[in-house]
Amino acid sequence: MSRPFQNTYEDPVRAAAYAELQYPGTYHLAFRDLPELLGPAGLGLRALDFGCGAGRSARFLEGLGFDVEGADSAEAMLAQARLRNPAGVYLHVPGGDLSALPDHRYDRILSAFTFDNIPPEAKGQILGHLARLLRPGGRLLNLVSSEELYRMDWASFTCTGFPGNRDPRPGDRVYTIMKDVPDARPVEDIFCPETEYRRLYEAAGLRLERSHRPLGREDEPFAWVNETRVAPWRIDVLS
Ligand SMILES: C[S@@+](CC[C@H](N)C(=O)[O-])C[C@H]1O[C@@H](n2cnc3c(N)ncnc32)[C@H](O)[C@@H]1O
Repeated sequence: MSRPFQNTYEDPVRAAAYAELQYPGTYHLAFRDLPELLGPAGLGLRALDFGCGAGRSARFLEGLGFDVEGADSAEAMLAQARLRNPAGVYLHVPGGDLSALPDHRYDRILSAFTFDNIPPEAKGQILGHLARLLRPGGRLLNLVSSEELYRMDWASFTCTGFPGNRDPRPGDRVYTIMKDVPDARPVEDIFCPETEYRRLYEAAGLRLERSHRPLGREDEPFAWVNETRVAPWRIDVLS
């Protein structure tokens, strides 16, 4: 039997390294188009940052004017988030259990890279919770690694050194090495193809409005590797 999946981010050393990360290289493409995809923050719109980690994505949402609550399963990451923003609301949700939160609480939900680390058997239940937490007319953005991310190298990641990354099946472990942080230990993700996400969205009662695939532009100040022709991320916009 294969060993149980362990969240890479339940680790104080990894959390401290991740907390230093801003929006370099390939990460720029994850955040660049979010303001347009999220739409205007309006007055008092409440947003959940599911898998807020060390708070980078929560602070990004705050910067856009949303009233933000962060939630994460890793205490080590939440400790970093609280250190950087003691006034922020950061909830500990072991295993991604959001059952304590009331229905229709959020106008927007962002999940940035979180589902890359969630085992297949838990994905459906968590998406069901996120659907329940969304207000009518609200929007959920699920930002995940593209299927191609693991097969190629990028400005911010080395992925081609892992033979298992070449042709993974749904549920297989896949690996990346982050180039922008001092922690070079491989990050373990769980491969989930787009077709499987679509099936899970439908089962959770979520409607896929669009899938955005951000590409690098030649005039951006980064040494793109494959980013100008292949999108490293996919941002699914759901209602
Ligand atoms: C790659 S980090 C991204 C953090 C943050 N969104 C950002 O962009 O900086 C992924 C985060 O998802 C969290 N995560 C993984 N599985 C989770 C789950 N089942 N429930 C809640 N958070 C989870 C991890 O602990 C980690 O902090």
